[in-house]
Parts: sequence; C-alpha cells; structure tokens
Amino acid sequence: MRSAQLRPLRDLRMIRNVESKLHDVVIVGGGGAGLRAAIAAAEVDPGLDIAVVSKVYPMRSHTVAAEGGMAAAIKENDSFEHHIYDTISGSDWLADQDAVELFVKEAPDELIQLEHWGCPWSREPNGTVAVRPFGGMRIQRTWFAADKTGFHVLHSLFQTTMRYASVNRYDEWFALDLLVDDGRCQGVAALELRSGEVKAILGKAVIICTGGGGRVFPFTTNAAIKTGDGMTLAYRAGVALKDMEFVQYHPTGLPGTGILITEAARGEGGILVNKNGRRYLQDYNLGRPLDISDPNHPQNRTMELGPRDRLSQAFILEEQKGNVMQGEYGSYVHLDVRHLGEKLIDSKLPFVRELALNYGGIDPVTEPIPVRPVVHYMMGGIDTDIRGATSLPRLFAAGECACVSINGANRLGSNSLTELLVFGARAGHDAAELAAGSEIGDVGALEAQATASESRVRGLVSNGNQGTERIADIRQEMTTAMETGAGIYRTEESLRATCHKLVELRDRFRNVNLDDSGLRYNTELIAALELDCMLDVAQSVAFSALARKESRGSHQRTDYPDRDDDGYLKHSLAYREDDSPRIEYKPVTITKWPPAARVYGS
Ligand code: FUM
Repeated sequence: MRSAQLRPLRDLRMIRNVESKLHDVVIVGGGGAGLRAAIAAAEVDPGLDIAVVSKVYPMRSHTVAAEGGMAAAIKENDSFEHHIYDTISGSDWLADQDAVELFVKEAPDELIQLEHWGCPWSREPNGTVAVRPFGGMRIQRTWFAADKTGFHVLHSLFQTTMRYASVNRYDEWFALDLLVDDGRCQGVAALELRSGEVKAILGKAVIICTGGGGRVFPFTTNAAIKTGDGMTLAYRAGVALKDMEFVQYHPTGLPGTGILITEAARGEGGILVNKNGRRYLQDYNLGRPLDISDPNHPQNRTMELGPRDRLSQAFILEEQKGNVMQGEYGSYVHLDVRHLGEKLIDSKLPFVRELALNYGGIDPVTEPIPVRPVVHYMMGGIDTDIRGATSLPRLFAAGECACVSINGANRLGSNSLTELLVFGARAGHDAAELAAGSEIGDVGALEAQATASESRVRGLVSNGNQGTERIADIRQEMTTAMETGAGIYRTEESLRATCHKLVELRDRFRNVNLDDSGLRYNTELIAALELDCMLDVAQSVAFSALARKESRGSHQRTDYPDRDDDGYLKHSLAYREDDSPRIEYKPVTITKWPPAARVYGS
C-alpha cells in the first residue's frame, strides 16, 4: 500500500547524504555465531566498540530453533580421535582435516564455558553432563538441553553479551553491502527497517554470521529469515562461496510445514518404518534391526542413526519402490517413538511431542509421526580459513554462512552448534586483535559506497508499480527449480534445466514490482532484497552441482554414481559473474586420515 504521508524517496535523496556510525568491530548477524564472536571480541579488549547488526531481534535468530544438541567428546569411552574420524568420514572426506582437528579439540571448553554462561545441560543421574547418540556418530557425544538446545544456547549467549557495555546492537537493520577501502573491509551499508534510512556502519574488521540459505528450497526446516544474505554480501565483494553444491536434507521433517522432528527422537531409540511396517533402513547398508524391545542396545541404534545423507537417499529409494505412504502433503514414512513411553518422551523429547501435536495433530505417545526429508543445512558457504578469515582482508565469517570446512559433503548432526561457538570465538578474537591495532580507512569513500547502496534500494522502491514481475512468482519458480533439479538426486539434465531457469529469473528480477513505496517497515522491500540474495545463492548451488561430476555425501548424481577422488577430492569455489558463477577448485587438506569407504552399521 502506498503511504500518502511519506515523502517521495527521490526528494529525500536530494537533501541528505548517508551518515556513518563508527565502531571497531562490526558483526553482521545476531545468532549463535554472531553473539559468540561479540563476546570473544569484547574479551580481547573491553575498550573496543563492537556493533552487532541483525535483521531480526537476536533471540529470533534461527539458532533458537536448534533442537537435538551439540557435540563434544568428554566421556571416558570417547576421544578426540573418534570425534575427528566420525566427522571426516561423515563428510565423505571433503572436510579439511586440520580444521576438524582443532574444532574437535576446542569443542569441550566451549561447551563448558556455555554452562558457566547459563546453559542448563541435561544431566545423568550422577550429576555429570548427559550425552545422547546422534546420526553418524559411533559414540554418544551429543550434549543437550532436553530437545530445546538452541533456545538455551542462544539465551545463554544473549544474556552474556548484555554484560558488555561495549556491545552495541542494531536490531532490525538489514545489511545491504560490504564497504571496502584500500582493499580492506571496513563496514557495511545497512538499512534500518523502522525508518527506512541507510547508514554506513563502519568498523576496522567485519564478521559475517548470518546463517544459511535453505529458503532457496520450497520445503525446509529453515526460518523465513534464512535467505543467504550474508553469503551474498561476501560473494558480491568477490569472495568465493565454497562447496555450495552440498545441501543437507534432514530425514525427519513434518510434512506440510517442514518443521524439524529432531534426530534426538532416533537418538533416544525411535525407529523409521515404511508402509509395510518394515524398518527399511536395514535394506540400505545401515545396520540390522535388533530387538527393539531393547532400544538401548547400541547396535540397534545405528540403523536409524546413520548419516543424514544416506537416510534421506534411502527415503527416495523407498519412494521409488512404492513403499512409502501418501498424504495430503506428499509421501512420508513413520517415525515411531511409542515404545519409549510417555515418561521418557516428556522428559527428553517434550518439544517433539509439542510440535507433533500442534503441527501434525499426532500424539507420539500413542501414534507414529509422519516424516519426510527436508532441506535443513548448507555445508557450503563463504570460503574461510581456520581462523574464520576470508580472502578479503579484514572480512571474517563464522557459522552456517561460512565454510571452514569441517562438514565437507555431509555434516553430522550436532556438530553445527559447536561449530558456531568454536569458529565464532576464533573470528571474534582475531577481528578484535586486528581492529585494536589499526585506524579506520577513508570515511568519505566508505560513506560514498553506502550512498550507492542507498540508491540501489531506492531504485527498487521508486520502481513501484512500474515493474511487471511479482516477488512471489520469482521466488516460487526459483524454489521449484531448485527442488526439481538440484534436490537429493541430480543429473546433468536436471541441473542444466535449473541453471537455465535461474539465469532467466535473475534477468526477470530486474523488472520486479513493489506495491509499497513507503520507507518505514517496508517488508516488501526486504522480501525483494532477500530474493535478490537467494537468486545468487541458488545459482552458486546449482552451478557448483552441475560442475561436480561425481557423487559424494549429499551431492548424488545418478549419472555419476561413484565418488571420484582422483577428479574431485577438491573444494569447489563459486565466484560471482554477471549472468552465472565461475567455478574453480582448491585442494582439500588431508593430514592423517586418507580417503576410505564410509561404512555404517557393521
Ligand atoms: O535433529 C536435530 O536436532 C538437528 C541437529 C543438527 O542439525 O545439528
């Protein structure tokens, strides 16, 4: 709706220039990685001024939705070696082994630190921290706070940032572009949702912590905010997006909404059955079904706790055999936790019960839950080193938006919350040290760049009612093309069709129409900016997938069904070009664990 009270944007542009706000470190994203980075930066030097710029209030960041837990090896039967090996093998050997090693070694301290900041880890009867089994992990090492781990983690981090007066928040500010002076990243241009004003938020180092971009697919566990904005900030500034072809489908989403039914349900002993009541995973080299009346038997768990890529692929193969059920929202299988009993479900899986009841009308105490694979996580992201640094000096990234890489071709459940702590802390620390010893660049030049960003935004708004393309149409065609051509199984033909469609959609986006020409809380404008980012992210996924002519982890090409270590034991790097990305490669770091077959359930 047009607002008669607002002044036309073109007039406003004539009477003021973009102002700047000066800080030392600017963090984009207020979720787990961003808040952990802010604390680390504040701890380096309490005199540093730290800005956290987030398009949502931090407690609304997607970290809050994490359920099952976070991994760190602490129990006597576990070791760093085991955690490292599970992660590398789970990654189908595409993870950088130096990164995995330090990740695993720094994980326990991060989780203990989090308890000191208030995270109420669930306990064993003897009072020690409890761990539960998780997918692809051969040993129980997933710490948890019932099945609301993300909520407690984010709350602990958020309340800890409040202890630091030096952490300044820009809640509900949308970062538009990175600002670069003399080859160094020195801030972001950001749009305040409330006023519609654009400002240059300057700092001597910038950390992007904006999460992934699962919303480029139609059926996802990802919150509506996960539109890949931060990935695109870096991508547009010339930084590569690494390993974007690797998209994780979680095997158990609720049909219709895509809401996550946590892997913890299977960790606690839940089983997956097809329409014939068969635990079908026994047919996919994932283990044998032992006596389910003894759900604590470790071997009994391995089948349902195989890695996510294999379980999601097994669903599609069952579907092709006609062994799945059909419902209002497509095909599904059953996740059955009834044998666990109400007491265990209420104590360890209360959120599973709540979600199944509220969004599926199913009480898991008495009925099996319908589930199907759902897009959950992007293994790929902004190319960083093990300190979180990117190829653009003074720009760092951490969390799901980054690719260090510890996840390679398939992430293990419960490694990602740990990852955002370990690498958020590293990035925050290093960015602060760099900022402490340096001066800001040419403020006038940086403000001029932000003015250009402002013009871009105003161009979109003042285009009102002149464009002919609808945001919703382009978004829907994009998500459909991604699922159809770049889903769990892919081929040259399907990927080519998707790539072709995405080039067409990028072109059509230039003619997008906005009905709302107002400035304040223009959510339609935000939707357009997000769609622009998603088109970039979608292209990087599809073109990287087209170029990788092998099958590895979550990237399954039916026309190239085998892993090809000679040709493709390497990271893909997508660089932004005008029409479609340029794909290059760089080597994977292999230290002590040479590539081998991934074996589960033996
Ligand atoms: O199933 C889950 O709770 C998801 C965990 C994860 O993605 O790490």
